[in-house]
Amino acid sequence: MTLGLIWAQAANGVIGRDNALPWHLPEDMKRFRTLTAGATMIMGRRTWDSLPERFRPLPGRRNLVLTRRPDWSAPGAEVFGSLAAALDAATGDVWVMGGAAVYAEALPFADRVEVTELQESFEGDVTAPAVDLPVSGTTEWATSSTGLHYRHVTYVR
Ligand SMILES: NC(=O)c1ccc[n+]([C@@H]2O[C@H](COP(=O)([O-])OP(=O)(O)OC[C@H]3O[C@@H](n4cnc5c(N)ncnc54)[C@H](OP(=O)(O)O)[C@@H]3O)[C@@H](O)[C@H]2O)c1
Repeated sequence: MTLGLIWAQAANGVIGRDNALPWHLPEDMKRFRTLTAGATMIMGRRTWDSLPERFRPLPGRRNLVLTRRPDWSAPGAEVFGSLAAALDAATGDVWVMGGAAVYAEALPFADRVEVTELQESFEGDVTAPAVDLPVSGTTEWATSSTGLHYRHVTYVR
């Protein structure tokens, strides 16, 4: 099993606001789909809730959802009561896709972290954890069709 973490963060570290992404970055959505195709995804229940219904479950991937609510279920979601239980059930390429507490809990076990950095700051209520892994690659800044500026930073243990 290889474990990756993947997120996009604003210049001020924000990753979410009102249980949604504060920005629209179509190029990054496309990269997310490419990197995670066929993989097992692990996410917190609020991140699951934040996905637009037409993308839920994320197609072509296992959707493992963490919740402490014993009665919670959703079509297409495999439900787990802890990160450890979800990791036990996961095989192959595994990606943790949020939110904040799940990233922080998974970071010590991550082989790789893929962060999309935005040059712009956004208001929000959820922030990314600090990554204390070596950077293995950084792309040049690019301009999105939305006018936002972004680059990809890869960390590898
Ligand atoms: N920018 C990005 O790349 C990115 C990526 C992902 C998410 N986001 C944003 O982040 C926000 C959502 O993240 P969030 O941090 O608020 O919530 P979250 O981590 O997605 O979900 C939190 C919930 O997950 C469950 N949970 C978390 N850790 C658990 C554990 N160890 N064991 C069992 N259950 C656990 C609990 O569910 P119950 O309450 O059901 O018990 C908890 O309330 C949204 O705004 C979303 O758009 C952004």
